[in-house]
Amino acid sequence: MNTPPFEPKIIGFLCNWCSYAGADKAGAAQLNYPPNVGTIRVMCTGRIDPQFVLKAFAEGADGVVVLGCHPGDCHYKEQNYRMIQRHRLTVKFLEQFGIPADRCRLDFVSAAEGEKFARVIRETVEAVRALGPMPKLPPPPDGGQGVDRSDRSDGSDRSDHHQECSCCH
Ligand code: FES
Repeated sequence: MNTPPFEPKIIGFLCNWCSYAGADKAGAAQLNYPPNVGTIRVMCTGRIDPQFVLKAFAEGADGVVVLGCHPGDCHYKEQNYRMIQRHRLTVKFLEQFGIPADRCRLDFVSAAEGEKFARVIRETVEAVRALGPMPKLPPPPDGGQGVDRSDRSDGSDRSDHHQECSCCH
């Protein structure tokens, strides 16, 4: 009896304004990409706390892909630059547990880049498939129940984000 090929489960965090629209564009153009990515729409990648990523892994994801507006194009000013900083910390944390950075990709897809969206998804799925199933991670420090914004490790101040984005309340 043949064992079915490993099909990775991947969580995609997509910024509403650019990458989610890029995904729509890929769909409207009927571009081919694998169905392994379950998407979570966020208003901005600045909304993505590293604990969201760790929780996705802790709950069974084999990979995570974060897609946002290109640097300089974030609708909430510099929030995606802050996401880049947080992503580096997240990848370092994962690497301490022997989890390669290829399991957690950050990229930028604009609303006009349906083809890039499809390509990034294809590449991500191929990379994670090559790595095999995700080893078990310890649970996030607070069990993934919430995010304490009073002590942000990247020193970011979200006050400007809160003014413009209702997603954080
Ligand atoms: S609005 Fe898209 S990354 Fe901020």
